[in-house]
Amino acid sequence: MPGTQIPSMPGGYPFLGHALQLRARPLEFVQALRKRGAIVAFRLGTMDAYAVNHPDLIRQMLVTDAKSFVKGRMFEKGRLVARNGLFTSEGDFHLRQRRIIQPLLRRAHIQQYTATMRELAHAQVETWRDGQDIRMDRELFDLSLATVTRGLFSTRLGEDGTAAVCRSLPVLLEGLGRRAVAPVDLLDKLPTVMNYRFARALAQMHRVIEDIIADHRIRPASSEDLLAALLAARDEQTGEGMSDEQVYDEVVTMLIAGTETTAGALSWACYLLSRHPHIQDRLQAELDAHLGDRDVAFDDLAQLPFLQQVIAETLRLHPSTWMLMRSPVTDITLGGHILPAGAIVLFSIYALQRDPSLYPHPDVFDPDRWSPERAAQLHKDAYIPFGAGIRGCAGEQFARAEMAVILSVILRRYTLHPDASGRPARPIVRLIPMPSAMPLTVHRRPHGRGSQEFR
Ligand code: HEM
Repeated sequence: MPGTQIPSMPGGYPFLGHALQLRARPLEFVQALRKRGAIVAFRLGTMDAYAVNHPDLIRQMLVTDAKSFVKGRMFEKGRLVARNGLFTSEGDFHLRQRRIIQPLLRRAHIQQYTATMRELAHAQVETWRDGQDIRMDRELFDLSLATVTRGLFSTRLGEDGTAAVCRSLPVLLEGLGRRAVAPVDLLDKLPTVMNYRFARALAQMHRVIEDIIADHRIRPASSEDLLAALLAARDEQTGEGMSDEQVYDEVVTMLIAGTETTAGALSWACYLLSRHPHIQDRLQAELDAHLGDRDVAFDDLAQLPFLQQVIAETLRLHPSTWMLMRSPVTDITLGGHILPAGAIVLFSIYALQRDPSLYPHPDVFDPDRWSPERAAQLHKDAYIPFGAGIRGCAGEQFARAEMAVILSVILRRYTLHPDASGRPARPIVRLIPMPSAMPLTVHRRPHGRGSQEFR
């Protein structure tokens, strides 16, 4: 019955609403919202907001009624950095850009990118020594960044460019996350240290992107890469090419959407394997048995079922987003309630995928829940690490291949252990929940692939 009262989240403060809780303990807050029902009302400052929690209703919003929603407040803030790129644009313009970009991130091209991913992963792990403590989070950030820039833009960033992205990206993501849940917009404009750091990071990132585009214009290293396709794209009706601004917007979007996400997921996978030696052993046994003396290639990926289960389970426990937003363009009925046009609507993939009513023992790392028999028992819309529908992840196949190739290269050569401190990693929530410092000790496998190279 449309119009019935939506349950409210208690504990809001005058003027601030629930902004403090959302900022101070975001993962706990989205899980607490989830416990209150399929749709729950709360407040961001003086603005009314709603959390949509039930998998069927999330699907309705992302897929069935996707045309009735825009991406909303979080993505308006995202425009400060990603401007009008694929992540933040809307309507026909978004569809046009997606049609140009999506084919470059599909199977035929992934095959080509896989070779680059493997080459980069080799080069990185070859610098590791037996028994060394590695800051795995940093190693995998550098590797993910190199994979996107070399794979999609045929560019080598060099030390300065890499350092500039490493410094600026976390600041930008933190700033965007903070702005999305701020109780008032005015806070963005005050002359605070945080706003100054944000502006400086934006300028740094701007210089890196300009360099990537300039480098490509001077020597288009590959006519097949994404940047070449953006520069060559023509509007079907007008025949016009993409403006320099639009090319910039898409490059910055790919860099942001494709670096920390995969780096975070890979770091968590390595961390979980280091804490679950029997799962790591089983995965290494699968890799050894299937690959023998060969290194992993694109065609192998579909034939490594346990590797795929480990990746699936990592992305369940640590999806790259903790909350996303939408906003209905007209009043809309969802789950028997009316959500008004323009409302802030939040959904959390993190909370959904850790719901005990959907996943038994949800905090346990159990790749076997993705065995065909057990996976068939799960709610089909309760697992959406890459989102769903027309705004679902454009880079899903790229990210899946990247994770599989990098994990294979690492685990053929090394076994991962907690470092001597044994300190647990925890998620640091910016726009993307990244692991805290993650030191792991790597031990070279005596008969592992490439062991000769290291002697
Ligand atoms: C493990 C890695 C990744 C995860 C978990 C992930 C997750 C997501 C999710 C959940 C969305 C949907 C956001 C929404 O509905 O509002 C999304 C969108 C997007 N992702 Fe990813 N992503 C990953 C890696 C990548 C990579 C490697 C790229 C690029 C190469 C990429 C590019 C994009 C783009 C462009 C969008 C916006 C699509 C659109 O709105 O049309 N992502 N991603």
